[in-house]
Amino acid sequence: MKTLVHLSDIHFGRVIPAVAEALLADLAAEGPDLVVISGDLTQRARRGQYRMARDYLERIRFPKIIVPGNHDVPLYNVARRFLRPLTRYRRYITDDMAPFYQDDEIAVLGINTARSLTFTKGRISRAQIELIRRRMCPIPDNVFKILVTHHPFLPPPQNQKLPLVGRARKVLEMVAACNLDLLLAGHFHMSYAGGSHSAYRTLARSVLVIQAGTAASSRMRSEENAYNRIDIHNSRVTLRVRMWNGESFVEHRTRHYAYNTDGGWDFPASLEPEASTSPSERSLKN
Ligand SMILES: [Fe+2]
Ligand SMILES: [Fe+2]
Repeated sequence: MKTLVHLSDIHFGRVIPAVAEALLADLAAEGPDLVVISGDLTQRARRGQYRMARDYLERIRFPKIIVPGNHDVPLYNVARRFLRPLTRYRRYITDDMAPFYQDDEIAVLGINTARSLTFTKGRISRAQIELIRRRMCPIPDNVFKILVTHHPFLPPPQNQKLPLVGRARKVLEMVAACNLDLLLAGHFHMSYAGGSHSAYRTLARSVLVIQAGTAASSRMRSEENAYNRIDIHNSRVTLRVRMWNGESFVEHRTRHYAYNTDGGWDFPASLEPEASTSPSERSLKN
């Protein structure tokens, strides 16, 4: 069995210190094989925010896969935004824009979906689709294959109209053909999960999609700070959403998913994901 911790949208510059410290303690107790961090490490991509992010990440002493989010590209400094959008990310976080982890049970690839031309939306280029194919297709199907992005492939149950990552369908077709199992992302600051068939009925095979809330920032939308613990064992996945209760992170809900040889990662209607709280009235510019 492998245990992943999936964090997202920490947003240094808007971090709640007590939550961030409790999160580190919770992670140490979980003892994951890998920590996945799906972007928006900073609030405004400022140098001081990146320094805080770097110092914090150094305290997470587990293997890590990290991708940037739209907030990790400078917003107001237009010259930097277009000419050197991820220079600070590369300097303070990692120079690897396609991080990859593999062991005998899981293979995890991270892809950058943040773009200078759009403030909040994200996209996957044709070259990145080819990169994913080259990297993930040759891996045997008995290895559980995971793709990490900041921008999501599946809308939250509360709002099916929110914009998804650009070229989502093209990527999902390739993901189905290469037998990927799981997509991890953040951006909406909401925890939810589902099979890709729930939004893309005609795909040859359904992939499991798990979204993380904001781990430690005050930019909460419709739920408290949260992160995901994901256990992977023999074509079965257990997702535990751990949520802040004002004092510590506690288990908020647990879901089990199993691989179905007919159509991939999906589950009966009774196990469909549910919104953890009522729909948010606030805007979702994450
Ligand atoms: Fe975002
Ligand atoms: Fe965010």
